[in-house]
Amino acid sequence: MYYPEELIEEIRSRNDIVDVISAYVKLQKKGSSYFGLCPFHNEKSPSFSVSGQKQMYYCFGCGAGGNVFTFLMEYENYTFVEAVKALAQRAGITLPEAEPSAQEKKEASLRQRLLEINKLAAKYFYYQLTQPQGEQARNYLEGRKLSHETIVKFGLGYSNKFSNDLYQYLKSAGYDDYILKETGLISLDEKRGGHDKFWNRVMFPIMDINNRVIGFGGRVLGDGTPKYLNSPETKLFDKSRNLYGLNLARRSRRPNMIICEGYMDVISMHQAGFDNAVASLGTAFTSPQASLLKRYTDEVLLAYDSDGAGVKAALRAIPMLKEAGLRSRVIHMEPYKDPDEFIKNLGTQAFEDRIAHAQNSFMFEISIMERDYNLNDPEGKTGFFNSVAKKLLEFNQELERKNYIEAVARQYGIAFDDLNRLVNRFGLMSGYGQERPAPAARADGSGSKEKKRQEKEDAVVTAQKLLLTWLCEDTGLFEKIGSWISPEDFTDPLCHEAAVCVFEEYDTKKTVTPARIISLFEDKDEHDAIARAFNTTIRDEDDKAAREKAINETIRRIKTASLEHKSKTARDISVLQEIIRQKKELQKLHISL
Ligand code: CTP
Ligand code: MN
Repeated sequence: MYYPEELIEEIRSRNDIVDVISAYVKLQKKGSSYFGLCPFHNEKSPSFSVSGQKQMYYCFGCGAGGNVFTFLMEYENYTFVEAVKALAQRAGITLPEAEPSAQEKKEASLRQRLLEINKLAAKYFYYQLTQPQGEQARNYLEGRKLSHETIVKFGLGYSNKFSNDLYQYLKSAGYDDYILKETGLISLDEKRGGHDKFWNRVMFPIMDINNRVIGFGGRVLGDGTPKYLNSPETKLFDKSRNLYGLNLARRSRRPNMIICEGYMDVISMHQAGFDNAVASLGTAFTSPQASLLKRYTDEVLLAYDSDGAGVKAALRAIPMLKEAGLRSRVIHMEPYKDPDEFIKNLGTQAFEDRIAHAQNSFMFEISIMERDYNLNDPEGKTGFFNSVAKKLLEFNQELERKNYIEAVARQYGIAFDDLNRLVNRFGLMSGYGQERPAPAARADGSGSKEKKRQEKEDAVVTAQKLLLTWLCEDTGLFEKIGSWISPEDFTDPLCHEAAVCVFEEYDTKKTVTPARIISLFEDKDEHDAIARAFNTTIRDEDDKAAREKAINETIRRIKTASLEHKSKTARDISVLQEIIRQKKELQKLHISL
């Protein structure tokens, strides 16, 4: 569905960005902008700014930025069209609801069609499970003690024994080979034609936080290899940025989230009432997944398998969680292998107890470290405490560090003072709390030359961004700089694109709407960069003379760089002469406010 630009603009202007973002982030007014804790990265003091005047947001910490559409795209994982729909609804605007024509269907984004196909496939698998051919799979799930309700809730299904029936079914639904290949569900082979990736497996649809099927996992019935088969990464399915079960867990009322290893663990836990369980997608836990969790909780419990692989996975995940600003604890499953088996054998209450006694993740890390030392041997003991002391330096808040020193001292029978002294000694040795000296310049000077060139380039780009910001804030400037600067003078590609839009809007309407210009750039990375361009901080230039000087310097810098850039590519003598003339002209530059 394609909406006219005016409609998009109408929707944008009727959804005040401060109101919209306030529903997600607690904002406080500071000067002319609002500030809050950035929802896109972890931070303790607010660097996420929302400007009502510019109708844009920008994070000085992580660089996320954009307009009200981008915000929903980022936060809710929406496509542009979904964000438009949500905001239209919010503003009470009815969108044209045309029956999709063949043409429109063709134009609908690839992503949208992939979602459709996945949904269709999930329904197909579910249907197969309910049919006579699904009996063995039904028995399998029953054997694993899943209720009918649970099966429906997770949309479980069955890919039957025919190796190309899904392919035939999707073909008959009107999808061609090209798009079917993109789903990762079908592979095409010149000799055999299309065939299904999954057959004779229990199917687990994998959903994003908005309940849309983005991929599948399939388990063999009983023994066989591979035990699990997963969809490959596709345009929809990014394994590092989604979590199995999060669509349900995000609505849980429990105070934390539980991460476990497998799909079956998640399902058993939900069935037992632990509706805050999630799992990664057949791959190791990642930092983006930690950030994703941070949107919904402050504490994560790790319920990994009790074997060596599970311990290793926990040790990898803990620093990532910490980095994302999450507290974490480790649930012990012994003597069982995983949450699924634990719950089946000991039940809900026992698991509830294990949650209550989940181990602080730092103490867990130390307990694993301890395995490498023989504490009955004086040398082993010294080595262990040295390692612990070094690790305690991870806590850079003094009170927190003291609390941990105390906990370790109590548990491992060392005097608080002794351990504390050891920690401080390592702290001094590693220059802890001191500023690191700047790296020395290279003796041959080549490093510093490169650095200078880079600095000069940065200064020019900064100048271009500054000018864009000034133009948006004070459109009176357009007339004043008109004879000196045009969009061609913006040599930075992104500033150039933004400048073209800004100048064009001013020419036709005599106003500039930064947020509208942002809508023209659909790609999210571009949104960030453009928002940054519009938010380049300006020192408060109260003093008119100072402001005038800043503007003149900025324009001179931009124009000089632009002329230099032109002279590098000029082949024609008359062009070069013109550049020389303009350089001379530039000496006369004086803009007064
Ligand atoms: N996994 C995988 N490929 C495999 C084995 C495992 O992708 N060959 C992934 C799956 O996402 C699985 C998770 O790793 O859910 C955990 O594996 P495992 O502990 O073997 O699975 P369980 O959940 O215990 O499986 P089950 O209880 O069904 O035996
Ligand atoms: Mn298991």
